[in-house]
Amino acid sequence: MRTERSVHRTILPLLVVASLPLILGLVFGAFGHVRTDGGDREHSAESVSLPTQSGESDVSVEEAIANRRSRREYGEEALSRRELGQLLWAAQGVTEGTTGYRAAPSAGALYPLEVYVVVGTPGVDDLEKGIYHYRPENHELTRRKIGTVQSELRAAGVDQEPIGEAAIDIVVCAVDERATGKYGERGRKRYVPMEAGHAGENLYLQAEALGLATVSIGAFSDDHVRDVLGIPTSQRPLYIFPVGGRT
Ligand SMILES: Cc1cc2nc3c(=O)[nH]c(=O)nc-3n(C[C@H](O)[C@H](O)[C@H](O)COP(=O)(O)O)c2cc1C
Repeated sequence: MRTERSVHRTILPLLVVASLPLILGLVFGAFGHVRTDGGDREHSAESVSLPTQSGESDVSVEEAIANRRSRREYGEEALSRRELGQLLWAAQGVTEGTTGYRAAPSAGALYPLEVYVVVGTPGVDDLEKGIYHYRPENHELTRRKIGTVQSELRAAGVDQEPIGEAAIDIVVCAVDERATGKYGERGRKRYVPMEAGHAGENLYLQAEALGLATVSIGAFSDDHVRDVLGIPTSQRPLYIFPVGGRT
């Protein structure tokens, strides 16, 4: 009896220690977010390709500006992947391959913005509900989490209905450090929010040209949005754009 107990005492802790990697792997692999380091590194995240942007539209830039409106009601149709790709390209896509310059201007071409997509209901054709991160350099998404997230994002956005009712929510965040390294506080206080404004207006006008509906949302809890997206404190959420079809 005594021997059996001592064997258990020795073997049980060993078994627990040996199983730790498996237990941690299951917990974080199945339910955890893929963390980023200042938006630069993403581990073992699956890539989702987006159609090449078309570069053509029947709507002139003047018409898009004239007709742009904040629209808070959305249709029941899912967005197409082409529409999603076009929206993300307008916000932060690379428009000059050799330099890496993007659709929206950036102080010192430092590109502090990181763009996330929360796919809800009705969502996007052939894309599971969840959280995705836009990678401008490859014009693709990396999948961060699969599951229902939109209702929690709505809660983070002081329960604003458009966030929960749109097909998707595009969340524009910033890694301030990329701008403060060169520009100090001016980078954080002025340049970064200005850049979010540029990306945001591009999103509005692109949505207009595609016949979609969107609204810029600035009222939300930064910490709660960070928590929902699973992003570190080095990233600051600046805007939420619910996007859907027109009613
Ligand atoms: C910085 C900023 C923050 C905003 N935040 C919200 C918001 O939290 N919720 C909302 O419904 N609209 C928000 N809006 C949209 C404004 O309400 C909208 O732009 C304004 O009513 C003018 O309407 P228009 O965009 O159709 O011209 C925001 C707009 C800006 C520029």
